Parts: sequence; C-alpha cells; structure tokens
Amino acid sequence: MWRTLSAIVFLVAIVNPLAETRRLRLRSSDQLQLDEYLDYNGVMQYLDHLARAYPDRITLKNVGRTYENRSLKLAMVTNGDGRLGKRVIFMDAALHAREWMTPVAALYTIYKLVVEFEENADLLADFDWHIMPLANPDGYEYSRKTNTRWMKTRTPNGGNCNGTDLDRNFEVGFGLGFPDLRGPCDHNFAGRAPFSEVESRTVRDIMHSLMKSERGVMYLSLHSPIRRVIYPWVYDSTPVPNHGEHIEIAKFVADQIFQSTGTVIKTLQGVQYGEFGGSSIDYAFYVGFPLSFAFEMSGMDHNHVDYKFFPPTWEIRRLADESWTGIRAFGKKAIEKYPPSRAIHQSEDRLSNPSRGEGYAAF
Ligand SMILES: *[C@@H]1O[C@H](CO)[C@@H](O)[C@H](O)[C@H]1NC(C)=O
Ligand SMILES: *[C@@H]1O[C@H](CO)[C@@H](O)[C@H](O)[C@H]1NC(C)=O
Ligand SMILES: [Zn+2]
Repeated sequence: MWRTLSAIVFLVAIVNPLAETRRLRLRSSDQLQLDEYLDYNGVMQYLDHLARAYPDRITLKNVGRTYENRSLKLAMVTNGDGRLGKRVIFMDAALHAREWMTPVAALYTIYKLVVEFEENADLLADFDWHIMPLANPDGYEYSRKTNTRWMKTRTPNGGNCNGTDLDRNFEVGFGLGFPDLRGPCDHNFAGRAPFSEVESRTVRDIMHSLMKSERGVMYLSLHSPIRRVIYPWVYDSTPVPNHGEHIEIAKFVADQIFQSTGTVIKTLQGVQYGEFGGSSIDYAFYVGFPLSFAFEMSGMDHNHVDYKFFPPTWEIRRLADESWTGIRAFGKKAIEKYPPSRAIHQSEDRLSNPSRGEGYAAF
C-alpha cells in the first residue's frame, strides 16, 4: 500500500511539470517569425505546429498538389465551440508568386485568430475562416530562389516558357484585356484555357464547395503592393448588384488603415484599374460569394519609400500589423453585413454578359 501510494505521488510530481513544460514550449513556438520571409517549408512547419498545439481551433487540409509536387494547404480556423456549418470567410495569398508580404499577412491572420484568440473572438463567433497562405508555392519558391520578379506558376505551358498567371486563369471573361496575357512567355499569360492550372482549379473547387454548403460569404484575395481595395467586376464595367455594399466595406477598410498607420489605400472597381478577364475575385462573385475583394497591401516603409514586392525584412512586422488592421476590418464588416439571419444568396443575375471573352481560343 505504502509503495503504491508513494509511486503515485512520485508519478504525479514527475508528470505534471512535464506536461507544463510541454505546454510552455508550445506557447513560445506559437510566435510567427516576422524578421524574415519564410520559405515553403517554413510556412508548412508553422501551420503544422499550430495544428498540433491548437487542434480544436485549426485544421489543415491538403487540397491539391502542384506541378512540382508541393502540397496546397488550406487552414480551417474556428473557435472550437464545435458548431458545424458556420459561415465562412475564404482568403488566399500569393496567387502572384513575388508578392512576398501576402503569405506573411495570411499566416499573421491565422496567428491572430488561433493564438491571440481572446482578442479576436468576435471574428469567430458565427464565422469560420478558411485560409490558403500559399496558393502558388511553386512560383513562390522560384521567386525566392531563381527570379524574384516571377509571378506565375511553373507549369510548362506549351511554349518555350513556363507558367501561367493564376489571376488571369479563372473563367469569367477569360482572355479579355491586356495583350500581354496571350503569349506563353508573357508575364500575365492567362493560360491555354480557363483553369489550366491545378492551383486555380483548387481555389475554384474550394469556392464551389463553400457555395454548395451555403457557407461562403466573403472571398478575400491578398495581393501587393499597390495599396488598393478592389472589387468586381474586373472584366466588365457594369457594377455588381450590391456595388454599394462593396464600396462601403472597402472604404471602411481604407479608413481603419489610414487611422492606424496613415497609409492611403484607394478603393475602386477592378475595371477602373484595367479591364481584364480571368480574375479570381470575378469568379468568386460569379459563383455566389456576395462579397469579393482583392486587398493590395502596401510595400512602403515608414518613410514612404516604396519597396514594392520585397520590403526589407525589418519592415515585415510593421507591414504585417498594417495588413492585419485591414483584414480585421474586412472581417468585422462582412460579419456585420451578413449575420446568420440574412440570406447569403441574391436572386439577381450575377453575370452581366457571361459570353464575353470566348474569342480567346483563337489566339
Ligand atoms: C509527391 O509528394 C508526396 C508526398 O511527399 C510523395 O508521397 C509522392 O511520391 C510525390 N510524388 C512524386 C511524383 O514525386
Ligand atoms: C520549364 O519547366 C521544366 C520542367 O520543370 C524545366 O525543365 C525547364 O527548365 C523550364 N523552362 C524554363 C525556361 O524555365
Ligand atoms: Zn497580384
């Protein structure tokens, strides 16, 4: 009896501090590294770590494999209350490979929602966030290692060059716009056909499944560095039926950022910047997301020197904070506009002229 008791006392004394140490160790490594740009493996390791440390708040799903066999990962973030079928904000980053701050902003959003959960609980009460921090990992690694200016995928495309611009590869208005999206060597090559790329098909399939389950409320695509909030349509000058709602949210985001850092963010319908087809935001709106935006983050340092795609590493933390101010504002407003009591679907004909852009096959 004495021996058993003392064994139990001994075990409790040993096991408890071990559990405590383990928890503390997880806590310190919960921090997102913000003094350098993580590579693909670094991004995956951080996600894996959070999924192990917070299994009730973040679930990772392999949603596809790229041409170079990298995993496309979707992080599904919830508050852990076990309620299924909540509405969803779907965000992706780095469709354009060289926009290095965008995966940082996506990971930082995940960090804020999962680790600094208490401060952001309002963003997860009735909504889940589905986030793809690296939507084009092949291009991202190529931009880091070989050619920083690279923005496309790395798939051989039939010409002597590789790669397709994912933000021209969606179906709505495919092939419309700047002449430089027609040649395989062009920076903005739209692809041989809509959804020729596994990355755009993967994003499309996530959108479709969120529509089928009637959960998708807002699509938010992160870009940099031109300091804009852009809403559909990009392929056509017609305003979307809820144009006013898009303007209101865009202006709210711009105001929040201006108040917090002084950075000026312009808000505009995509077509005002340049009419082109195949954008992901047009497709998201077309399939039924009532809200769809591209957020073009800033690449400027605190002295307003514009580093564009590659801000120096000592600016990452400040820009991540600024992007979070914007992303939080998007989330807050979308949730306010689409409470569970409001229907997601609108009956209006969503696409003003779906057949435009079909002539592309002739090129
Ligand atoms: C792709 O990667 C997976 C996981 O690492 C591996 O199991 C598979 O064999 C790879 N496929 C090819 C064609 O290299
Ligand atoms: C295109 O991709 C193929 C297959 O990955 C590679 O062997 C080739 O060197 C690439 N071509 C260019 C011009 O980068
Ligand atoms: Zn971009």
